[in-house]
Amino acid sequence: MHPIRLFAYTAMATVLVLRSLAASAEVPATASSWLESAVFYEIYPQSFRDSNGDGIGDLRGVIGKLPYLHDLGVTGLWLNPCFESPFRDAGYDVSDFYKVAPRYGTNEDLRNLFAEARKLGMHVMLDLVAGHTSDQHPWFRESQRHERNRYTDWYIWTNSVWTWSAPNQQVVVGAAERDANYIPNFFYFQPALNYGYAQPDPKAPWQQPVDAPGPQAVRAELKNIMRFWFDLGASGFRVDMAGSLVKNDPDGRATAALWHEFRAWMDREYPDRALVSEWSSPQVAIPNGFHMDFLLPFNKPGYASLFRKTAPDANPFFDRSGRGDIRKFLDEFEPLYAATKRQGFIAIPTGNHDTVPRIGDGRSGRDLAVAHAFLLTMPGVPFIYYGDEIGQRSTEGLPSKEGGFGRTGARTPMQWDDSRNAGFSTAPADRLYLPVPAAEDRPSVAAQRDVPDSALNTVRALIALRHAHPALGASGDFTTIMAEAGKLPFVYERTKGGERILVALNPSAQPCEARLPAEVNAASLRALAGETAAFRREAQGWMVNLPPVSYAVVKVE
Ligand code: GLC
Ligand code: CA
Repeated sequence: MHPIRLFAYTAMATVLVLRSLAASAEVPATASSWLESAVFYEIYPQSFRDSNGDGIGDLRGVIGKLPYLHDLGVTGLWLNPCFESPFRDAGYDVSDFYKVAPRYGTNEDLRNLFAEARKLGMHVMLDLVAGHTSDQHPWFRESQRHERNRYTDWYIWTNSVWTWSAPNQQVVVGAAERDANYIPNFFYFQPALNYGYAQPDPKAPWQQPVDAPGPQAVRAELKNIMRFWFDLGASGFRVDMAGSLVKNDPDGRATAALWHEFRAWMDREYPDRALVSEWSSPQVAIPNGFHMDFLLPFNKPGYASLFRKTAPDANPFFDRSGRGDIRKFLDEFEPLYAATKRQGFIAIPTGNHDTVPRIGDGRSGRDLAVAHAFLLTMPGVPFIYYGDEIGQRSTEGLPSKEGGFGRTGARTPMQWDDSRNAGFSTAPADRLYLPVPAAEDRPSVAAQRDVPDSALNTVRALIALRHAHPALGASGDFTTIMAEAGKLPFVYERTKGGERILVALNPSAQPCEARLPAEVNAASLRALAGETAAFRREAQGWMVNLPPVSYAVVKVE
């Protein structure tokens, strides 16, 4: 080749290489890079911190508490819906998806929250109520009208008001000017958005297929909503009732296909944002696009058997009686984990705004420490419900607030200190969103801050431990070492790269001792957290010995 042409080619190639380097430098990290070490914290905005004394928590209140959350080690926040709403289901009845509810502040406040959180290395997720709106939403008001309009097919309407029932579905009868009845998604005032039917009934032509214009318009709007908040700085969404979108979709396949499409779109345009589903079927949700899926007590009895003294039985594993059985959890968890471990994360929450009792109910600081040691050393992404880090308890017997019913007791204000209203608000006590329990028997952040082994400081130390050890990160491998019904301790291993960590748990009021199986095969074990002398070496192998209600985390060296 002529030397000048060769030079030109080389120069051009260099430019191309430089350009592609510049381009790759601009490509944002993917969600998995920050999810790997993420610890989330759920904030029920009504009850976290009231900055203006009107008795209701707000966004500026959350911003003011970011240093607390940062200090705790939390790296992700999930905010329950903070959008305009008549609040008949605590905001899960949205009347404007593009506007922050005035009681919480403004869109600008939310933008500030994103920015301030980001400065502290925290990601904020919003709650996407994808399946329904409030019956006060302007789209639904239009959809109720007799005249055809843009929103006529945005909700699911029967062919006439005389169609009083539909198989496997509720129908709200006679509520509109329109000669039709609508399908609600949850409470009656939450009409289901129309994502179509996977298998429309030929005898009920009002059931539209997924590709009909109405369902397609709703799908496009959902994407607009997501884009709007992504562009303002949201790091992702917790998707409410994520499996509920397409109707008559028995195996969830059509709903999954929708999320699959959304994930492909996010991977192209917003690869650093993440989705966590309220589906509680990780084997469906994760392969189809969710970065994470929650385990929830409603359909996961194994998860419920960890902490809940109520259903499905009275002996949770994390209980002093020692009568619980960790196999109930593992028999459910292990196959779900195996099916999803290279694709996404199972999120095991301490609790949430729908679950009573709270993890703190009936548990001492020591009991809680063992439970938190488990939650914060498991694979996947942990979620802490506000107040669970101090063992805040639920309040029994409260009248329903904003559609809370039995859930209301787990939604009371965060207990910050011993001042008026536990430091939640300066409003008169009778104007609070929900009452604060009497001072004598309530845990608080202030009271625990300087007590070295308080629940709060234990959680902080366990989060720091998680951050410091790759094996404890979301994708570190999980292997059960010892887990037998009626026997303690429960021992498991986490590994990543060359790092190996063992966790041993004894929630019972009795001490326990066991010989570790030969395959553990460690030269030495270095204590990282909990009991420091739990493991001892004998001629035949390692013994683990745990006092009542204790745990140990050790590194294999
Ligand atoms: C989800 C929410 C719950 C809400 C319901 C309807 O389950 O977690 O609080 O009432 O969906 O949106
Ligand atoms: Ca307020």
